[in-house]
Amino acid sequence: MVRGGRTRVPLIVGNWKMFKTSAEGAQFVRELVDALGALDDRQVMVAPPFTGLYEAAKAAEGTSISVAAQDVFWEWEGAYTGEVSATMLAALGVSAAIIGHSERRRYFGETDESVAKKVWAALDRGLLPIMCVGETEEEREAGLTEEVLARQVPAGLASVRVEDGGSVAIAYEPVWAIGTGKTATPEVAGKAIAHVREQVKDTFGPEAARAMRILYGGSVGPDNIDELMAQPGIDGVLVGGASLQLGSFVRIVRYERA
Ligand code: PGA
Repeated sequence: MVRGGRTRVPLIVGNWKMFKTSAEGAQFVRELVDALGALDDRQVMVAPPFTGLYEAAKAAEGTSISVAAQDVFWEWEGAYTGEVSATMLAALGVSAAIIGHSERRRYFGETDESVAKKVWAALDRGLLPIMCVGETEEEREAGLTEEVLARQVPAGLASVRVEDGGSVAIAYEPVWAIGTGKTATPEVAGKAIAHVREQVKDTFGPEAARAMRILYGGSVGPDNIDELMAQPGIDGVLVGGASLQLGSFVRIVRYERA
């Protein structure tokens, strides 16, 4: 049990997407460490582009910040030009991998099947998979949100063993809220997240459903973080744009219980 009665340690992840050079990223991590100090009731990660992982991990070593990759390939090594394996990431001191982000699904052909393979590979190498799911605007308008989640969640977790269910994090990111400034209201986010947890329960049983951290993502910022984190089922956030500036990210990490 951690402070505030939560059994799951809140997780705040800054997804830098294709921003920051390696030097800029390392500098940001150093400043973040200075600004945050020790953190005992929440976990904080930054996810630089691949080129920034080494320096960011070095800057984060021995601190309470950890480093996530934005993607991972499912083979350990081989003739796969341009890809990076979970073995390589783990060797660099990376702790987690974002998998199946909607931008990867949309622009780079990521499917539920490739997501499942990547989730398995990350777990096998001791990385925390942060698996992204979420409906598009058209799907929401057509009333298909729950159906989409009921497909994406079990499909992405297809190769995960029941006992590892709690070692995966899921980020519910409605596609219409990403980078648009249109955040889901805490109630809408909370409802979808409850539905995601139901899927986990159906697939892995109640224990894994209780253990698994489910994050919200999509236009999270200093102005809405407190009310999002006040929703009992929301275990953290995946932050894009607002994670790029130190001040706004620090404010998000230091969310207050509403
Ligand atoms: P945003 O991105 O916070 O800029 O909406 C979130 C994400 O894509 O993970």
